[in-house]
Parts: sequence; C-alpha cells; structure tokens
Amino acid sequence: MQDPLHRYEFNSNSILNHVVEPSDMAQFKTILVTGGAGYIGSHCVVDLLETGYEVIAIDNFANAVGDDDGSPALRRVEQITGKKVVFYRADLLNKEQINDIFDKHRVECVIHFAALKAVGESMMQPLLYYQNNLLGMLNLLEVMRSHNCFQLVFSSSCTVYGEPEWLPITEVHPTGKITNVYGRTKYFIEEMLKDLSAADERWNVISLRYFNPVGAHPSGLIGEDPTKEFTNLMPFMAQVALGKKPALTVFGSDYPTPDGTGVRDYIHVMDLAAGHVAALRMISEKHIGLKVYNLGTGRGVSVKELVTVFERVTGAKVPLKYEARRHGDITAMWADPTLAKEELGWTSQYTVEEMCTDFWRWQTMNPDGYPKKAMKPNHIVNGNS
Ligand SMILES: NC(=O)c1ccc[n+]([C@@H]2O[C@H](COP(=O)([O-])OP(=O)(O)OC[C@H]3O[C@@H](n4cnc5c(N)ncnc54)[C@H](O)[C@@H]3O)[C@@H](O)[C@H]2O)c1
Repeated sequence: MQDPLHRYEFNSNSILNHVVEPSDMAQFKTILVTGGAGYIGSHCVVDLLETGYEVIAIDNFANAVGDDDGSPALRRVEQITGKKVVFYRADLLNKEQINDIFDKHRVECVIHFAALKAVGESMMQPLLYYQNNLLGMLNLLEVMRSHNCFQLVFSSSCTVYGEPEWLPITEVHPTGKITNVYGRTKYFIEEMLKDLSAADERWNVISLRYFNPVGAHPSGLIGEDPTKEFTNLMPFMAQVALGKKPALTVFGSDYPTPDGTGVRDYIHVMDLAAGHVAALRMISEKHIGLKVYNLGTGRGVSVKELVTVFERVTGAKVPLKYEARRHGDITAMWADPTLAKEELGWTSQYTVEEMCTDFWRWQTMNPDGYPKKAMKPNHIVNGNS
C-alpha cells in the first residue's frame, strides 16, 4: 500500500477548459432528471438546458424546497437560462407516477440524482435509506425498461471506495468496504447496474463517482438549500460566517495530514454539471455497457485550508470548534480524474477560491435560501411548465 499522503497535490497542470457548446449535445433530446430540485440536480439542469436538451425534472421535495407551483430552484434555473423546465412533484417509490411520466414524454435518457444522502441519518434509519435509494432505483430501472429507455447516468460517490488503499484514487480501486449505510446504497446500486448491463446489452450506463461537491452557480441565484438537517462543510461554514451558527465543528485535528484535519477533493458543482453533459455525449455516441468515472479535481484540500481560503475570499470569520474524530470518517481522499479526462474529455476548471466565492455569493444573496411558501401535502404538482 502506498502512503495515502505521498502526493498531496496532483494534476495541477492538467486543467483543460470545458466549455459547454451546442456541439456537446448528444443525439437524444429529452432527458429526465430525477432529484432535479436538489442541489446538484438543479445546477446540472442549467448546463443541460444551455447545451440544448429538453429537461423533465422530478422531485418529491424530501430534501428540496417546494411549493404548490413547483420548485423555486427550477424557476431560478429558468430565469438563468431563459428556457423552460417541465417539472413533476413525484416520488420514485410511487411506480405508477413514474410510469405516467414516461407514458406522457418520450424520455431518451435519465440522469438519476434522487436519493437520500445524509450519512448520520442513514445509520439511524437504515430501512429508510435502503427503501428510498434501492427501491427508488429499482422502480426507475423497471419503468425505463418498459419504455425502451436504456440510457442512464447515475450519481454515485467516492464513498464506495471506503478507506483508500492508495491515493490519488483510481476507478480500479476496490469498492465495498464502506462504513455507512448511505455509502452502501450507492455500492449496492453500482453492483445492481453491473448485473443489469451484463444480463441485457441494451443498457448503456455511466456511474459518476463524485468527490466533494461545493460552490454554487456563479449568478448567486441557485445554490444548496437542504430541507433536512445538514452537516455538509460549506453550507455549515457559510451559516457560521453569517452568524447563524456559533462555530464550525471540526471533527478530528490529529489525522496524519499536514495540518491534522481531514483532506478531501472539493469540486465545484458547475464542474460536476459539465461532467454529466460529457457523460451524456459519451453514451449517445457509443455503446459502452457500464462505465464508471471519478469526478474530482485531483487535488486534496484539508478542512483547515478550505476554511482559510473561505475566510480570505469572503472577508468573514469562521470560528472553529474541535471535536474528536467521528467513527467511520476517512483521513484523506482525492481523485485521480485521468480516466474522465481521457475518455469523456472532461476536467475540472474551477479553483477552490471560486468554489468559496460562488457559494458565498449564493448565501449572501439568499441568507434564508429559497423563498418558502406553504405547500399542500401529497399534492401532485406539475409546475414550472
Ligand atoms: N452532495 C454531495 O456531497 C454528494 C456527493 C456524492 C454523491 N452525491 C449524490 O448526488 C445526488 C444528488 O445529491 P445532492 O447533493 O444534489 O442532494 P439533494 O438532497 O440536494 O438532492 C437529491 C434530491 O432527490 C430528491 N429525492 C430523494 N428521494 C426521492 C424520491 N424517492 N423521489 C423523488 N425525489 C427524491 C430530494 O428531494 C432532493 O431534492 C444524490 O444521489 C447523492 O447521493 C452527492
């Protein structure tokens, strides 16, 4: 095993600018985006619309702000792009609803973001996570198959790797030794997709393993506004900087890293969005069965480093409070993004400074997130259309 920290920075000379152009558009036109009202989904919809795709988005608002007219995030997306998003408030656990949407629209490809993602909650409510993430995926795959739609881009996570055996982590790194339920749902789905593509060659699937998405659209109009309790570093840090929370808790200051805090590969959410457009292009052009790609920058950044950059670019102070390491947390993890560069023609282009500046712009323009209006329970909405 290599020393996990033998190379602290990687790939700094391989930044290619990924510019979304209409020529990036794959042959198919209509993309169904599940979890489209969520953080990464809404940012990805911007790129899809700007590339020329038609987007149908669905979300059950389990972790996104919704109202009787649809999704405020997606209305902002329409404002940014000047294009329409067809939106359904629908639940992947309700197969009939999903079936109806496929009956109504000729969906050519699905990007599947919808999932519950809170690691802590997943440990306390494993059945909720297995039901939502696994059953939701199964329902979706069955409805896709019955409508002859076999193109899928799946939101996976670097969490499937567990504790790294080497760094930077490549796609051939073993998966499965995962310490939390959320991560296991991603791992099980990847295994399911392997079986499916081996059994039926019509499937054409890309699983994208995201590293640590942060930042927001540079307009400041959309960003991360979860409705569940969250512990994600950047939204938490921004809340502290705004004075809404007293201090940022840092779990572990005695890791074998240069400053003792955990190291992660933070990636701007608009870079992730561009990765999805690149993946769509690949599956529209080639039959690949199933492929897996890391989406990361290739650079490890410690918690302390991120806080320092955040304070510098925002001018805000983020008091820190140190606590013991959390069970299951990993010391250091960053990607080798070479495969995505070589095969998808994708590399990250945003810097850590831009990740912080863009997130801060979103947070200061929208200190309380999206406008919240009362929403009728169990009301099926077809808003934003
Ligand atoms: N944000 C991260 O740090 C990160 C890292 C790696 C992977 N991912 C994965 O990327 C995807 C998107 O993450 P995100 O950060 O945008 O999360 P998010 O919670 O903002 O978005 C997920 C969306 O899916 C919706 N949803 C959940 N269950 C649903 C269901 N049964 N039916 C319909 N909609 C449902 C939620 O309401 C939410 O809007 C998820 O699959 C997540 O596991 C996220």
